[in-house]
Amino acid sequence: MSSNKIKKDNKIKKDINKLASEINQHDYHYYALDNPTISDLEYDKKYAKLLELEKKYNYIPANSPTQRVSGFVSKGFEKTSHRIPMLSIQNCFSDDEIKAFDVRVRKFLDAKLENTLEYFCQPKLDGLAMELVYKNGILSNAITRGDGVTGENVTTNIKTIKCIPLEINNAPKLLEVRGEVIMKKNEFEILNQRQQEEGLDIFSTPRNAAAGSVRQLNSSITAQRQLFFYAYACGAMEGIEFETHKQMEDTLRNFGIPTIPTRKNLKTKSINNLSYIASSLKDAINYRNFIYNIRPKLEFDVDGIVMKVNRLSFRKKIGVTAKYPRWACAAKFKAEEGETKIIDIKIQVGRTGALTPVATLEPVKVAGVSITYASLHNQDEIDKKDIRISDTVKIQRAGDVIPYITGVNFAKRKKSAVKYTIPNKCPTCKSVVDKSESASRCINPNCESQIKEKLKHFVSRRAMNIDNLGDKLVDKLFYAGLIKRYFDFYKLTKEDILSLEGYKEKSANNIIDSIKQSTTQKMHRFIYALGIRHVGENTAKLISKHFKDIGSLMNADKEDFFNIDGVGGKTGEAMIQYLANKGKEEIIELLNVIELVYSKTSINNKTVVLTGKLQRPKQKIKEILENFGYSTLNSVSKNTNFVLYGKKPGSKLNKAKELNIKTIDEVLIDWDNFGGLHKL
Ligand code: IVH
Repeated sequence: MSSNKIKKDNKIKKDINKLASEINQHDYHYYALDNPTISDLEYDKKYAKLLELEKKYNYIPANSPTQRVSGFVSKGFEKTSHRIPMLSIQNCFSDDEIKAFDVRVRKFLDAKLENTLEYFCQPKLDGLAMELVYKNGILSNAITRGDGVTGENVTTNIKTIKCIPLEINNAPKLLEVRGEVIMKKNEFEILNQRQQEEGLDIFSTPRNAAAGSVRQLNSSITAQRQLFFYAYACGAMEGIEFETHKQMEDTLRNFGIPTIPTRKNLKTKSINNLSYIASSLKDAINYRNFIYNIRPKLEFDVDGIVMKVNRLSFRKKIGVTAKYPRWACAAKFKAEEGETKIIDIKIQVGRTGALTPVATLEPVKVAGVSITYASLHNQDEIDKKDIRISDTVKIQRAGDVIPYITGVNFAKRKKSAVKYTIPNKCPTCKSVVDKSESASRCINPNCESQIKEKLKHFVSRRAMNIDNLGDKLVDKLFYAGLIKRYFDFYKLTKEDILSLEGYKEKSANNIIDSIKQSTTQKMHRFIYALGIRHVGENTAKLISKHFKDIGSLMNADKEDFFNIDGVGGKTGEAMIQYLANKGKEEIIELLNVIELVYSKTSINNKTVVLTGKLQRPKQKIKEILENFGYSTLNSVSKNTNFVLYGKKPGSKLNKAKELNIKTIDEVLIDWDNFGGLHKL
């Protein structure tokens, strides 16, 4: 190779590396700081450029953000050793056991040091332990805990988790970050719902769902699962040192790695800052009780707290055993289990016709909440556990919210109990049920239950997001004959609502307002709202991104759908079938009232900062602005275009004035008839 060619190659590699790093930096601002510094359009352009260069020059840097969506399918996971073993942790269940732990710790410290002993306390996350290896700032390996000595190399899958930085700035030579991959409770429910609709396996807990998602051989499936990572420890390190655990977590946070921020005291109302530094045993026990009490409100599952000696020099003195460090313990919560009887099994019909067997239970209290029903998911689940009407079953609250039957107490089974089979006819419309797949399905598109559930889906938060229009109201409107099709929502009048029991002037007005507000909508939300089989939120996004406008989508053929990365053949078939089968008419009718907003920045490319108390919740205003193509940012810089201020504006308004940025009194804006900021 000529030296010129080598030089040129190096230059190209350097450019590609630079662009990859730049995009990673934007990801950090977006995901870790929640404060994007460029518009979506600019981001998309840079991303597309990187993809193009990587393809053209056949060079993909290890830190490339394009690898977050790779469709890589592996045959199995390679085994990889941990530089430092990932030990397990000693469990304590009672106050006495925690006290004994504290006594053991103090034995290793002399009196003077003992006075300064602090425990860094945080929730014990119930997910999958993971080690991320950053070499010179680049995420080079992600390894499961495995047996503690050797784990599985799941790097490709871990790269799909958006909150994990692929690269960190000003990084030491080596930094191993340990933490937990988790699935938040709401995402777990959504996933199971989707699995059930598609006749796939149901996950019993968010932990199982997280573990199952990470261990997927096809990384594009992992990418579709909404996973999250929290760091709570470090493994091997070179070129960096810490004195305390607190200092370590603060540093990781500054690197853009998610950690659980520390709270100053337990009385603070916020449930976000969950870690806590306890300066006495009593303090630590109070913390354990605090987490136990707020547990149902947390976004994620926790199964206890972890107490760790905060000062690392103390840890050295205290030492480790072969199995676990002596300086840490997990104060675990008992599994919340109960036993009760199945009174009956009823069938629910979902929006795509999937039949879900649901057990009606003799009310039982588990973790302080009375449970009266539990989903049995599908025939396979019933058969696997051999669940029958009149059985006594053990019940747990998976994710602290969803009741889950763990098994049958066979000793208490009645002789008369017979095997349960999902009926062969739909309980609503009496059509024959298709049982050829794992999910039994009513295939009558005119089935009343399906229609009603579709209507509920259409207005739901992740779809058209019509506030004030919940499941109960949809039921009432449906049974009153006021809505049969999606379009009927937009024909509703205040009088229609008032004709229903329990609705007054004010709530009726709010409902009509919310419906009106939903008429400016992003394309992917609209597509998702249509409730087409196999078209989940993520698929709707991929489809929207591909077709760019609804017209192109309506004219697409099967081939077009097959060409979309991450969209399977089943989805393509379902889309084509939908469009051919009155779908086009449905869309055209809806577009009479709904205006789709395409790329955020195709309309304009302006950034807005909000400050002070506004007429509507900040989130709502952000949505309206974003639908109009504005990007909303949290802090004012010289690149900000507008600052909207409400009552009692903060320092942001002063800063805007200093920088000569256009400021607008938000009270002047009529959000119902919002037409952009330029005219103001
Ligand atoms: S600290 C050995 N902190 O607990 C001490 N572990 O680690 C270093 N775990 O299976 C780990 N949440 O998955 C620590 N906030 C937390 C944790 C936590 C969950 C799990 C981890 C591992 C076990 C022991």
